[in-house]
Amino acid sequence: MPHVEILSSSVRNGRSSHRVALFFKKFIEENKLATATILDLNEYQFPIFEERLRFQSNPTPNTLEFASRIKRSDGVIIVTPEYNGSFPASIKNVVDLLYDEWYRKPIGISTVSSGGFAGTQVLIALQFVLWKIKAWTVPSQFPVANVDKSFDELGNATDAEATNKRASIFVHDILWCIEAKKRMESN
Ligand SMILES: Cc1cc2nc3c(=O)[nH]c(=O)nc-3n(C[C@H](O)[C@H](O)[C@H](O)COP(=O)(O)O)c2cc1C
Repeated sequence: MPHVEILSSSVRNGRSSHRVALFFKKFIEENKLATATILDLNEYQFPIFEERLRFQSNPTPNTLEFASRIKRSDGVIIVTPEYNGSFPASIKNVVDLLYDEWYRKPIGISTVSSGGFAGTQVLIALQFVLWKIKAWTVPSQFPVANVDKSFDELGNATDAEATNKRASIFVHDILWCIEAKKRMESN
C-alpha cells in the first residue's frame, strides 16, 4: 500500500485549514486507499530558512526526520490556506529546505479559505514553486471554501457525500501518479 504524507501548513493560532488535513487522513484510511500521516508544520516550528539541508553541517534531528518523511513518502497532499493571494511562508520555508526529497514527488494541492473563493489564487503560485523544485503536481485540485462551515474541528465534512466524491477523484489522481512513477522506476 502506498504511503501519503499530508502536509498541514498553517501555523496560525486558531487555524482552520488543519481540519482539511484531518479530513484527508480519515478519508484515506477509512477507504483503505493508502496509509496516511499528517506532517504538521505547526508542530515542527521550523526557524526561518537559513540554508538548504544538504549544505547544513549540523542539521537538527527535527529537520532530518521531516526530510526523511518527505523522501520516504510515495505522495504528498499539501493543505494550504490562502494568505494575501498566495501560500503561507511556512510552505516556502520547507520547499527551499529540501531538494532531492521533492524530486518527482506526486503532490496534490488542497487550497483552503474562510471565504467563498476557496483559496484558488494560491494554486498557480504554489504549482510554480513545486515545478521549479521538480516535484510532480497532479492535475486534480481540492479547493475548500468557507472552511469553518464545511468542516468541523475534527475534520468531519458537513456535506459528507459531496465532499467524499470530490476527495475520491483528487486522491485517486495522486494514486495514479504514484503507480505510474512506480512502474517507470521498476523498468
Ligand atoms: C494573513 C492572512 C491573509 C489572508 N488572506 C486571504 C486571502 O487572500 N484570501 C482568502 O480567501 N482568505 C484569506 N485569509 C483567510 C484564510 O482563508 C483563513 O484564515 C482560513 O481559515 C485558512 O487559513 P488558516 O488555516 O490559517 O485558518 C487570510 C488570512 C490571514 C491570516
